Amino acid sequence: MIKQAIIPLAGLGTRLLPLTSVFAKELLPINGKPGIQYILDECKEAGIKEVVFIISKKKQMIKNYFYNDNFYKKIINKKKDPRIIKEYKQILKYKKMIKFVYQNKPRGTGDAVLKTKKYIRDKFFLMLLPDDLIIKKNCSKSMIKIHNRYKSSVMASMNVNKKTVSRWGIFKLSKKLDRNNYLIKDVIEKPSIASAPSNKAVIGRYILPKEIFSKLSKQKPGKGGEIHITDAIQSLINENSKFIAHNFSGKYLDCGSMNGYIKSTLEIAKS
Ligand code: G1P
Repeated sequence: MIKQAIIPLAGLGTRLLPLTSVFAKELLPINGKPGIQYILDECKEAGIKEVVFIISKKKQMIKNYFYNDNFYKKIINKKKDPRIIKEYKQILKYKKMIKFVYQNKPRGTGDAVLKTKKYIRDKFFLMLLPDDLIIKKNCSKSMIKIHNRYKSSVMASMNVNKKTVSRWGIFKLSKKLDRNNYLIKDVIEKPSIASAPSNKAVIGRYILPKEIFSKLSKQKPGKGGEIHITDAIQSLINENSKFIAHNFSGKYLDCGSMNGYIKSTLEIAKS
């Protein structure tokens, strides 16, 4: 069973400037709710019991959001507003599930994952990238089902416009397992259009094996000088570790860019 999830939250959010100049992008409201809460709701509904947040000193605001008990207690004592009481109870529930680790230098997603090593107990764990919202269908829940069926690692996949392949991790697939699931032959971080093996992109949901940590501790920086989870996954695939690409059926919203962020608010409001 997958019971633990990790969420990298140390990113600077430059694509959302100026909103992120003083504010954590994951706390920006999407239709009246911080983006991170959609991710936590997805985890909880998928049966996750513990979540490790990878933050940085600059993103301390995220921890403060969940650790503001005295403030809430005072307000609730005075006002007894049922809406605030309900919201506070929800925050408290999540607070109990969350552990924090720090990544103070932006060395990439792979480096962020490595920081969680001491907390991961089980053979497999889930990772969610908070810029990638998936609505209408719980992608993590579907991926956990696939993991349970095939006992392997799983990554979310979506067809993208060929012109945009250099923005994503891109798969080369091998065998089709069933309607929406394929074995992964290769995964390449942000290839050029000419070298991309397909237009099937990695979207930010991963079920990873614990062995990823030993690969990450030896991983050299890749594209853009960062340590990529994609490269560590490729090392495991090279050693015959089984990874499945899951064509998810929910709707993907890119909340990490200004256009996508604005669109996601509209999409969620009408859903
Ligand atoms: C990360 C991954 C990339 C993946 C993307 C999905 O890139 O490195 O492989 O396709 O998330 O959103 P980033 O968005 O951090 O540039």
